[in-house]
Amino acid sequence: MTPRKIIIDTDPGQDDAVAILLALASPELEVLGITCVAGNVPLALTARNARVVCELAGRPAVPVFAGCDRPLARDLVTAEYVHGKSGLDGIALPEPEMPLQPLHAVDFIIESLRALPEGTVTLCPLGPLTNIATAFTRAPEIVSRVAEIVLMGGGCFEGGNTTPAAEFNIYVDPEAADIVFKSGVPLVVMPLDVTHRVLTTRARIEGFRALGTRVGHAVASWTDFFERFDMAKYGSDGAPLHDPCVIAYLLAPGLFQGRHINVEIETASALTRGMTVADWWHVTPRPPNAMFMREVDADGFFALLTERIGRL
Ligand code: BDR
Ligand code: CA
Repeated sequence: MTPRKIIIDTDPGQDDAVAILLALASPELEVLGITCVAGNVPLALTARNARVVCELAGRPAVPVFAGCDRPLARDLVTAEYVHGKSGLDGIALPEPEMPLQPLHAVDFIIESLRALPEGTVTLCPLGPLTNIATAFTRAPEIVSRVAEIVLMGGGCFEGGNTTPAAEFNIYVDPEAADIVFKSGVPLVVMPLDVTHRVLTTRARIEGFRALGTRVGHAVASWTDFFERFDMAKYGSDGAPLHDPCVIAYLLAPGLFQGRHINVEIETASALTRGMTVADWWHVTPRPPNAMFMREVDADGFFALLTERIGRL
């Protein structure tokens, strides 16, 4: 089987890190590159953290690119209160030795989509959509060449995690999200409705640790760290492991269920900035533009994730 070509666009972040590890552990996927964006922490740290993760996985040849350091039209909002000062707090790992690529992340996305056959590259955004929207605006001819976008962002029944209305990735750069959701590229969305169901319970964290590997230990330490914040916030048994849902969908789409619906992004209102207005009940004539997920087999998800992390 030919592996599916993906570009991971990311702002690591412990859950981004686990998503990257899941992709690198999976032979069904060919990671063409990792493009970094400002989000959970500023760009210099996300570009550092992505390389820390590649080296942890023993994959220093994966090209990592730095991209946009701020949203299209707003000041950057970060989330150190969730992820710690470094974005990857929870375990001390060595500073990366692999270089950052000289090319800008947006140019890498554009060049990859121009060079590879149409419909063969899937984009996997795990952070604010600034890099993707910038690439689409600068080189509109690449839009129709994208096979699919599978992204983590938004929420409907679950509300928001950054404001009552908005999830972090969409809240940070709603103008970019608006461009992507209007682009016409087939979208699969992993919103909070799904990610709040994949919780890092004590038993699941111990499952990573019991792998007895360096990577398993790191994943256990990271999920332990950002659990502290989320358990206090939600009162739930463990923290949501948001971003790995994107990669898990590529490996086992049957784990997820949702509806093909219209989703629009609120950019004008200060109160509901970054809200994903999801027409779940088809109450408007607006055409569907996204497969918006709502259900997940959480045990199946963690079984897949733990098995794959064990390969590294
Ligand atoms: C999203 O925001 C970030 O904090 C996480 O990495 C995830 O991508 C969840 O709202
Ligand atoms: Ca993220």
